[in-house]
Amino acid sequence: MSCCCSRFCSATERQFNQQVAARDVARYRRKGPPATTRLLRDGLRAAGPLTGTLLDIGSGIGALTFELLEIGVQHAVAVDASEAYVTAGRHEADRRGRAHAVDWKHGDFVSRALEFQPATVVTLDRVVCCYPVHERLLLEAVRRAERWLALSYPRDRWYVRVGMALENAGRRLAGNPFRTFVHPPAVMERLIRGGGFRLVSRRNTAVWCVDIYAKADAVTSLTSNP
Ligand SMILES: C[S@@+](CC[C@H](N)C(=O)[O-])C[C@H]1O[C@@H](n2cnc3c(N)ncnc32)[C@H](O)[C@@H]1O
Repeated sequence: MSCCCSRFCSATERQFNQQVAARDVARYRRKGPPATTRLLRDGLRAAGPLTGTLLDIGSGIGALTFELLEIGVQHAVAVDASEAYVTAGRHEADRRGRAHAVDWKHGDFVSRALEFQPATVVTLDRVVCCYPVHERLLLEAVRRAERWLALSYPRDRWYVRVGMALENAGRRLAGNPFRTFVHPPAVMERLIRGGGFRLVSRRNTAVWCVDIYAKADAVTSLTSNP
């Protein structure tokens, strides 16, 4: 599987190139996962015993994948539209002795969604904001989540919008076609709830919102059979 030749894919390959991937790996080794990744890991750990499979959409170098493998996930599929990230993630998995536990896929998850099997946990860490059509991305993610859906996305605050507009303007001036978006949180929440999920935790940083959703019947069975 490789990335398509859409505007999104070529812009993403350019934005998340080898240099960025090498920087992210070095930072992860030095400092551990970034704040949203830590909050997603801790939120999932607190939500219930974590087992089964993971589908990490927009995995980057795989920081969240590695963190969740440490706390109970047995096998992961990590998909990203950046080839540099997928290559770096594969090397990092080798280095950590996790090569057997992760299948790396390169491409746009949305246009190739049918190739992905359902997983116990589906995650999107700082991914929705990179994709123009967030409804399709979330819909395909929700369809594949058997028990948990966990995501981080930018808060809809004036200073987040201003910061993002400035970054996008800088990219426009530099001829870089990559763009980021503040998608409406209420629309995202409605869509996820419409797939039979309920919100079990929400944590905020100044910029990011980190949500953990559970399939409604999973929450019932967890509480009735502790
Ligand atoms: C800001 S990076 C975050 C990477 C990682 N999740 C993290 O938090 O470090 C966003 C990533 O999402 C990926 N992405 C966005 N939309 C995607 C899609 N539809 N299919 C696959 N990857 C996608 C991009 O390629 C990029 O690597």
